[in-house]
Amino acid sequence: MDPYALILPLIRTLGPERAHRLTVRALAKGFGPVQRRPDDPSLRTRVFGLDFPNPLGLAAGFDKNAEAWRAALRMGFGFVETGTVTPLPQQGNPRPRLFRLAEDAAVINRMGFNNDGMEEVARNLAGPRPGIVGVNIGKNRDSADPVADYAACAARVGPLADYLVVNVSSPNTPGLRTLQGPEPLSHIVDAVSQTLVRACPSGAPPILVKIAPDLTERDREDIASVARGAAVAGLIVANTTIARPPGLRSRWRSESGGLSGKPLFEPSTTLLADMYRLTGGKVPLIGVGGIGCGGDAYRKIRAGASLIQVYTAFVYQGPLLIKRIKDELAALLHADGYDEVDAAVGAQHR
Ligand SMILES: Cc1cc2nc3c(=O)[nH]c(=O)nc-3n(C[C@H](O)[C@H](O)[C@H](O)COP(=O)(O)O)c2cc1C
Repeated sequence: MDPYALILPLIRTLGPERAHRLTVRALAKGFGPVQRRPDDPSLRTRVFGLDFPNPLGLAAGFDKNAEAWRAALRMGFGFVETGTVTPLPQQGNPRPRLFRLAEDAAVINRMGFNNDGMEEVARNLAGPRPGIVGVNIGKNRDSADPVADYAACAARVGPLADYLVVNVSSPNTPGLRTLQGPEPLSHIVDAVSQTLVRACPSGAPPILVKIAPDLTERDREDIASVARGAAVAGLIVANTTIARPPGLRSRWRSESGGLSGKPLFEPSTTLLADMYRLTGGKVPLIGVGGIGCGGDAYRKIRAGASLIQVYTAFVYQGPLLIKRIKDELAALLHADGYDEVDAAVGAQHR
């Protein structure tokens, strides 16, 4: 019997934010399952110069303050993305700000970058890293100079990160998503890139940009052209959506904020395929949004994802999800005659 099958229903009797806080604390203290069996060799992959034991990562927002990444790696994630972190600590939006849409296998959040700030995150990342850890960076809500905020985070946490993510796509910080426009985005990426060169004399980590699912065709083309520039190593597709697809059943469906989980799967996978096409398959993509099983992961990979991430399904299904996705994915790859993930990336376009 999996002990987490017993613990999960208990955790769910708590409010969502308390449940999350408690889980992160327990993981930070060293509780949590450990994957002992090595990953299937077909799952190994090399993307933007880094070697991943498997392509499944924990998405940003779960471990905002870099407290639980060691435990997440031990559980079997191939990589963990900490953050979003901002230069100064901030409280985020008033509560309640996190809602479980259980009937829809979804979550709505309007957390608003609550985090302990880059100094605390830097302290938590110090020391050896037994796996790949990315840091997702943002701007403080009341900052007058967003470019300076991204540069400040890059200077502080860049030397401690295996990759850095410029998050310009959270719906819960007013004005943030306008930074996806080609001009502000180029400015931010250039500033982060120059900062990293100075801050990391032994080699700067790759810079990724995380984008929103709610982008027009024009926005997509503009981002693709920025992404094809030298400073951007990859895109993360996608953040939560402000759209509310028809068919949501939960009583919380009209809460404002970003929707994640199953209803995000189709729109985020369509965007992923678009970005693969618009970048000519030359820019590595991380596919995230609504993945709940190995079949979903495989569809993202075929649509163009070199790596994948989960958040919402991990909340509902617990750590067993990690093994399940990896086992199912390895089986699907073998069934289609692929002996490595990379060979299946973008297969739907061929
Ligand atoms: C409660 C919550 C908080 C999140 N916080 C962040 C964040 O701080 N930064 C970020 O880039 N994405 C954040 N996300 C978005 C996730 O990283 C991911 O892009 C999104 O949830 C879609 O994946 P999923 O459907 O597997 O949850 C958050 C998501 C949730 C549910």
